[in-house]
Amino acid sequence: MKSNLITTKPELSRAGFTSGFGVLAATLGSAVGLGNIWKFPYLTGANGGAGFLLVYVLATLLVGLPVMMAEISLGRAGKANPISTLQSLAPKNQPWWLIGVAGMLGAFLILSFYSEVVAWVFAYVVKALRGSILSSDPHVTEAAFGALISDPVQSLLWQWVVLVFIGGILLMGVTKGIEAMTKKLMPILFLLLLLLCAVSLSLDEVWEGLAFLFQPDFSKITASVVLTAMGLAFFKLSVGMGTMMTYGSYFRDDQNIPLTTLRVMAADLSISMLAGIAIFPAVFTFGFAPAAGPALVFITIPAVFSQIPMGQGLMVVFFVLAAIAATGAMLSLMEVPVVILHERVGLSRTKATLLTIVLLVILGSTSALSNSTLADHRLFGMSPFDLFDFVSSNIILPVGGIFIALFVGWGWGFEKFSRSLTNNNQLHNRHLAQMVFLLLRYVSPALILIVMLKGLKLF
Ligand code: TRP
Repeated sequence: MKSNLITTKPELSRAGFTSGFGVLAATLGSAVGLGNIWKFPYLTGANGGAGFLLVYVLATLLVGLPVMMAEISLGRAGKANPISTLQSLAPKNQPWWLIGVAGMLGAFLILSFYSEVVAWVFAYVVKALRGSILSSDPHVTEAAFGALISDPVQSLLWQWVVLVFIGGILLMGVTKGIEAMTKKLMPILFLLLLLLCAVSLSLDEVWEGLAFLFQPDFSKITASVVLTAMGLAFFKLSVGMGTMMTYGSYFRDDQNIPLTTLRVMAADLSISMLAGIAIFPAVFTFGFAPAAGPALVFITIPAVFSQIPMGQGLMVVFFVLAAIAATGAMLSLMEVPVVILHERVGLSRTKATLLTIVLLVILGSTSALSNSTLADHRLFGMSPFDLFDFVSSNIILPVGGIFIALFVGWGWGFEKFSRSLTNNNQLHNRHLAQMVFLLLRYVSPALILIVMLKGLKLF
């Protein structure tokens, strides 16, 4: 059993994804997650609504998408973990592989708070089963969420459940099975979101909710709002830290990279929009605060379900599906440290997985206890949870993005990039490759840098 795990990767084998649809599904499985259902609504609510959404879409097109194409083409050319890929593609003695090291640290930071949000989702499955949160009264749903996150024991135990669950999936080598299941279940999540939208669109304050989401108030777009929107664009597409580079290494040579990334982006954006439409009319109808922060979805969604017949049962299904979507995203995040520890440090995949889980139990506990035991511990005015969330999306992913763009634009060069994006000139998309290359060489890095410096008030 053990040697089997050492010699063959139990999941995405280096042989790669076998079908075009499999590639799309796996890449989408990484992108779609709590970013759509939890992070997108909470950030949109906290940053003024439509203006934020507009900047987020622009950032996705000008920065997220080109960097995603860059990462996947690098990965497919390098066919290894991010560190080895960058080493083999870069000119001798240029330390571009440090991007891979930063990516691994980024994965730990993201997983340490992400696993806690998944923990809340798991806890909500049980709460939904009991029916104790099904209410349109903000006081009731806020109290239920508050009781969960301010209880150190529940917060920690649910996070351990999540980490053991993910670790178990990796150790048993059943990630392929999970991905197959995800593929089949995601359409149900999509339908359920559609139903929630229909309910929300029948609420009293539907126009106020939709105006908040779609009618930009440009005065609300500050430098820090722009940085947050750009950070979300990276986070959503899983770019800036090597996840997509790792997935790119499993891509087949005849896979159309630009088309795949476009489809993933479009599907991902649609799911976020549905989540937004489901939530904001309810926020205004029932009197929730749009700027409630990370709590927003957990306090609002029960109110929407309280308006439908069989709402309780459907809410159970909703949180189960959200947990499954989050599992796909977590697996892709875990893949980066695990594959680096396996291929670079020489640990077996079993040991690499166990070490990653143990480190996450330790680091993640600070996120889990952010609203209880550690509530008074602030760094830069933020709890560990908020700090990991902020630093990963607004610093690590954008900086990773700058260097990935710079590497393709100035180190790897147009010929190699174009060969990768055009599948050796088999696809007739050389103009597209030229355009993306120019974006990567000049526009994206400059844009990211300016947004970061302004957003962090460094200039
Ligand atoms: N994109 C996922 C989500 O929206 C999260 C995620 C998975 C991620 N892999 C990533 C974010 C890599 C940043 C980098 O839930």
